Amino acid sequence: MAFQVALNFEDGVTRVIDVDEDEKVTDAAFRQKINLPMDCRDGVCGTCKCKCEEGAYELEFYMDEAMTDEEAEERFVLACQMTVESDCIISVPVSSQVCKTGAQTVAGSVQSIDALSDTSYNLTVKLHKPMGFLPGQYVNISVPGTDAHRSYSFSSRPGAEEATFLIRNLQGGVMSSYLEAGSTGDEVKLTGPMGAFYLRSLERPQLWLAGGTGLAPFLSMLETLAEQGTEQAITLYYAVTNAADLVELARVQELAEKIGTVRVITILASEDEDHERKGFVTDHVTAEELNGGNVDVYLCGPPPMVEAVRQHFKSLGTEPANFYFEKFTPNDAIEVAA
Ligand code: FES
Repeated sequence: MAFQVALNFEDGVTRVIDVDEDEKVTDAAFRQKINLPMDCRDGVCGTCKCKCEEGAYELEFYMDEAMTDEEAEERFVLACQMTVESDCIISVPVSSQVCKTGAQTVAGSVQSIDALSDTSYNLTVKLHKPMGFLPGQYVNISVPGTDAHRSYSFSSRPGAEEATFLIRNLQGGVMSSYLEAGSTGDEVKLTGPMGAFYLRSLERPQLWLAGGTGLAPFLSMLETLAEQGTEQAITLYYAVTNAADLVELARVQELAEKIGTVRVITILASEDEDHERKGFVTDHVTAEELNGGNVDVYLCGPPPMVEAVRQHFKSLGTEPANFYFEKFTPNDAIEVAA
């Protein structure tokens, strides 16, 4: 049986490798052309020290000089002595380049382009070969007919043959202009995956905050949990400007129902809309939802949303156990402004 092990390098690149039962992580990486730092291969020198962020593993022999008991308790590992017992996420303290690897590039063809509203598209890409990533991460996508590429979070789950992306429609933007005229069969290249915004194991209640098309990584997380299941309560706030921007809501609700522990709360910011909850997430997230700090918060939205939520937690006097965020910046807009 092989497990999937995500190697997160210092430069933000992630590579997902297969590790067979009883196979050492350094051997598995080498088999897949990734040279993790290594010297003695015997648990003596400590050169291969990494940190296992998620998952179950075993360490064989190692000397105190290579790794202390305190480090072992903090889940540091010696990759040359490590076998895995589940899927794992490992932080490697060097760049991907040092390990003679880099971001993976996978080709795919456009399967469909769907305008979901005036403000967003769904892009579906059929991948020519699988691309490993963690739910929540993003890739750079080449824009057909140009030299440009743009970054988008997967809204599909890892392992799906078709990758989907939720893309904001920015007037005059490179990707938006392509999506307006693009056709099925166009070839694209996906480079990545990247980013530290990914779903960790769920050990406490979850508070997820999505601003606009910042919903995308949460769709990937929900798709993943719909397969894996979870006992933890998840509250997902989905905040947009107008009712028409609440795209993919049916998909969110269907996934929420399948998982069974997810509460979906929508908020509209526009004054002109009639909705039971108006304003911003900071008008609605309550102290109870912070559960005395025993909550993991994930946020994907524009930079002011990240700051406003941070201030909101301060004003409520409760800091969450973990606060993971992805600042969603419309890079097409930046290019137009330039
Ligand atoms: S390579 Fe020396 S301890 Fe792993």
